Amino acid sequence: MHASLADDTIKRSDYQRPEAIPAPASNPLTIEKTTLGKALFFDPRLSREKGMSCATCHSPDHRWSDGRVVPLGSEELEQPRRSPTVMNSAWLKALMWDGRANSLEAQAVLPITTPHEMNYNMKELVQRLGEIKGYQPLFEDAYGDADITTQRIAMALATFQRTLVSNISSFDRWVDGDEQAISSSAQRGFDVFNGKAQCAACHKSWRFTDDSFHDIGLDSPDQGRGKVIPVEVTIMQHAFKTPTLRDLPENGPFMHDGSMTDLEEVVKHYEEGGIQRASLSKEMKPFELTDQQRADLIAFLKTLDGGPLAIEPPVLPKE
Ligand code: HEC
Ligand code: HEC
Repeated sequence: MHASLADDTIKRSDYQRPEAIPAPASNPLTIEKTTLGKALFFDPRLSREKGMSCATCHSPDHRWSDGRVVPLGSEELEQPRRSPTVMNSAWLKALMWDGRANSLEAQAVLPITTPHEMNYNMKELVQRLGEIKGYQPLFEDAYGDADITTQRIAMALATFQRTLVSNISSFDRWVDGDEQAISSSAQRGFDVFNGKAQCAACHKSWRFTDDSFHDIGLDSPDQGRGKVIPVEVTIMQHAFKTPTLRDLPENGPFMHDGSMTDLEEVVKHYEEGGIQRASLSKEMKPFELTDQQRADLIAFLKTLDGGPLAIEPPVLPKE
C-alpha cells in the first residue's frame, strides 16, 4: 500500500536541502579563496612529478571521483580504497572512508604528502608555488598579501571544495512538492527505501548519510574505522563511512573497495544481509524484495542525480 499523503509529506521533508553552505568561522567562504582553491585543485604542480592534481582522482567528468576501482598510484597497495566524490563535502563531519580526518582543511595536506598519491612535501611545495608568478595575485586577493603558507593552501582547497554542491535533482523537486518530478516507480522506490529495505537506517538526510561508520558485511580484509580508533571496538572493525547516495555514477564502482559495479548487485547484497561476523551492523537485516520493488528502489536512487556541475577547469597560473 502507498503511504498516505500526510506520512509522505513528513518523510519527504526529512530530505529537504539546506539553504546555505556551511563554513567554519576560521575559514569563511569568499570568491577570492574559491578562485585560488580552484587553481590549486586542478594544478598538477602540487605533485612532486607535476603529473597529478586533486582533479586526477576527483574529476568533474566523474562527479568529482575518478570512475576507477583502484585510484592511480594505488595499484601496488595491499588494500587500496576507491576515490570518493568531494561533492557536498562542506557538510562532511568525518572525512575519508575511515574518518581519519576531521575537516577539509586538515584533509587537504594528506593527498599532497602521501607517497602513492602526490608524493610531495609542504615545504618544497610552498617554495615551488612562490616561484609561479601567476599565483601571487591569487594569494593577494584571497588573503591580503602574497604570502604562501601550508595553512593558506589548505584553506583555499577546502573553500573551493565547499562550493561543489549537487545540482537540484528531480528528487529535490519532488520533495518541494512537484508531484510529477519523479515517476510513480521512483515514488514507490522511495517507500521501499524508507520502509521494507530500511536503507534510511543509515542513509539519512538530504545527503543520504548518517555521517557514521558501519560494517555492512563486505568481503574485504580492510579493517576500516577499526584501525583508526585507539581502543579496539568490535562494531568498528570493517566499518566504513556511510557514503552519500546523491550523484552516484551510472556503473559504479561502488563501495570503499570498488567491489560492485551495478546497483542491482548493491541491493541484492543488502537483501542477503552481508557476511555474518561480530562487527556486522545491527541494521543489516536480510529481507527480500520482488523484482518490481528492486527496480523501483533503483529508479528512486537514480532520481538523486543532479547531473554534472557547471564548473570548468581553470586556466592554470603561469610561471
Ligand atoms: C591518487 C588519487 C587521489 C588524489 C590525487 C587525491 N585524492 Fe582525495 N581521495 C582519494 C582517495 C582514495 C580517498 C579516500 C582515502 C581513504 O578513505 O583512505 C580520497 C579522499 C578525499 C576526501 C575525503 C572525502 C570523503 O568523503 O571523506 C577529500 C575531501 C579529498 N580526497 C580531497 C582531495 C584533495 C583536495 C586533493 C588534492 C590536494 C586530493 N583529494 C587528491 C584519492 C585521491
Ligand atoms: C547499516 C547501515 C547501512 C544500511 C542499512 C544501508 N547502507 Fe548503504 N552503505 C552503508 C555503508 C557504511 C556503505 C559503505 C560500505 C563500504 O564501502 O564498506 C554503504 C554503501 C552504499 C552504496 C555505495 C555508494 C558508493 O558511493 O560507493 C550504495 C549505492 C548504497 N549503500 C545503497 C544502499 C541501499 C539502497 C540500502 C537499502 C537497501 C542501503 N544502502 C542500506 C551503510 C548502510
